[in-house]
Amino acid sequence: MYVDRVLSGMRPTGGLHLGHYHGVLKNWTQLQHEYECLFFVADWHALTTHYDNPGSIEDSTWEMVIDWLAAGVDPSRATLFIQSQIIEHAELHLLLSMMTPLGWLERMPTYKDQQEKLSEKDLSTYGFLGYPLLQSADILIYRANRVPVGEDQVPHIEFSREIARRFNHLYGREPGYEDKAKAAMKRLGGKRERLYSELRTRYQEQGDAEALESARAVLVATQNLSLGDKERLYGYLEGGGRMILTEPQALLTAASKMPGLDGQKMSKSYHNTITLREAPDQVVKKIRTMPTDPARMRRTDPGSPDKCPVWQLHQVYSGEGQKAWVRAGCISAGIGCLDCKQPVIDAILAELAPIQERARGFGEDPDRVRSIIADGCEKARDLARETMRDVREALGLAR
Ligand code: TRP
Ligand code: SF4
Repeated sequence: MYVDRVLSGMRPTGGLHLGHYHGVLKNWTQLQHEYECLFFVADWHALTTHYDNPGSIEDSTWEMVIDWLAAGVDPSRATLFIQSQIIEHAELHLLLSMMTPLGWLERMPTYKDQQEKLSEKDLSTYGFLGYPLLQSADILIYRANRVPVGEDQVPHIEFSREIARRFNHLYGREPGYEDKAKAAMKRLGGKRERLYSELRTRYQEQGDAEALESARAVLVATQNLSLGDKERLYGYLEGGGRMILTEPQALLTAASKMPGLDGQKMSKSYHNTITLREAPDQVVKKIRTMPTDPARMRRTDPGSPDKCPVWQLHQVYSGEGQKAWVRAGCISAGIGCLDCKQPVIDAILAELAPIQERARGFGEDPDRVRSIIADGCEKARDLARETMRDVREALGLAR
């Protein structure tokens, strides 16, 4: 089969919380069973907004990696690395910047939004404007075609796709492309050549996406082609020229928004989090002191779950039976709020216990964590270098 490659990055924000776990990490731990996965610490991205205070980035990086591992991201299945250790990202970013229209960056919705949101910072910088392009380089350098991101990041993935298309269009048309593609097809040989050609026609004439997938599968399974010929044939399927860079797709996470302690989305900046390494007695205390429906001043006052942030946590942690018990008990004042909170407390403690145990293990063994990252960086670097060879060649920079 045509192998999908998944890539995602996270800014180093230090220790993670349940919002990260439910919104991102659980998804990563599932993806690692289905796809080839690369996950990285986007430390350069952190500098685009925190250039005035870089001190915390390194510590935050290691804390975050420990939490990834503790949450079940498995280094034997996924490649874990740090962006700044693969300097090829910077080279690709530079080269792509030559052909990136300024308007494309200026009209990114995140550009104005973030500047307004972080108005205490001066973000009228070159690096901040270019940050979606750095993200494109992160993705394109691994030829990743699936990028799990939240909704806010979708425009960046679309932008990356446009950049890849522009690059391929500008530099993928070598002289005599058509003839070279046909010669490469011959080299596929007999049955494969016929199959490829049939599937290509089916895709081009009928837009049959399955035919496209199957044709790519033929190429994946072919051993005796040079890399250049393979790329020509990938590109030839879709018309254009050589496909030097792969167009990525966003892989939208089923928006599991984790509510925080106050009913808003869980986020460090709202001070409403439970961290993955929160001490159990703190978890108990935080949930017990959580606000509830303000109409329930006394135990005997009936309440409405829809006005209560605890109810939102039941949506995450409780089954139908328990939710019915909450509803009935709340509306009739049959249960107290502490009774209602107890199953949530139990569920969170049960969820965190194995995570915290693993985090302790990794925390006590920094060498192991460092060696996991060193291995991941090495693998990532090999992949990045392969792409950069082709990119340099396309730009006349091969030495
Ligand atoms: N921009 C992303 C964020 O702020 C992080 C990120 C950087 C990323 N490079 C990436 C995500 C590449 C996916 C793919 O959350
Ligand atoms: Fe909220 Fe539960 Fe109290 Fe109702 S009983 S107000 S849902 S905490």
